[in-house]
Amino acid sequence: MREDIASLRNEYAKADLDEKSIDINPFNQFDKWFSEAVASEILEPNAMVVSTVGEQGVPSQRTVLLKDASKDGFTFYTNYGSKKGQQLDSNSNISMLFPWYELERQIIINGKAQKVSQENSAQYFHSRPRASQLGAWASNQSSEIADRSILEEKLKMLEERFLNKEIPLPENWGGYLVIPESFEFWQGRRSRLHDRIFYQRQADDTWKISRLSP
Ligand SMILES: Cc1cc2nc3c(=O)[nH]c(=O)nc-3n(C[C@H](O)[C@H](O)[C@H](O)COP(=O)(O)O)c2cc1C
Repeated sequence: MREDIASLRNEYAKADLDEKSIDINPFNQFDKWFSEAVASEILEPNAMVVSTVGEQGVPSQRTVLLKDASKDGFTFYTNYGSKKGQQLDSNSNISMLFPWYELERQIIINGKAQKVSQENSAQYFHSRPRASQLGAWASNQSSEIADRSILEEKLKMLEERFLNKEIPLPENWGGYLVIPESFEFWQGRRSRLHDRIFYQRQADDTWKISRLSP
């Protein structure tokens, strides 16, 4: 038993979050907190942990980068044949978590994921650095490989194949748009009496706002 782990703790006192000051629209509240996360220069403010559901309800999670946020939803890009892609094919439920520890904040968004149009995926794909585009072609994401040299050889081959050519969007690569059903904004407070404001989408697309016990 490592006692040093048990003794790691911080008091949270940077800010508060209350019903009077929050925006009644969770997308606006997200924009406000996201802008503050970017302005605070924390590392990777757009990194989020996304959880998907596999067979027999077994969850799995991984970090991805948020690439767009609008009133339509939240977009990230990945390989459609990856573990997450296969799981989303059979169950579109998804949970996204932004862990902004330096700000003593966390946002959790639950919803359903759907593939974005090929045009939108292609537009984003072509905005990426060439090396990232080649990387997407080289990696059959989440499949087992014997060793790293296989990847490096594949990359060399692809560099030759696409020399002086535009790299097309790989068939199995693109975006997911997450359409939220709920948002939770968490702000750490003193004595572990944190603020948790929860937004639940209603049938008429308005949002019911409640406070959750910490
Ligand atoms: C900071 C960070 C950012 C990442 N961004 C992405 C991303 O945008 N898209 C992606 O497919 N994988 C990204 N990854 C890798 C994923 O965490 C994961 O390893 C990969 O998507 C395979 O996941 P899966 O096997 O569960 O499908 C990122 C990892 C880290 C640590």
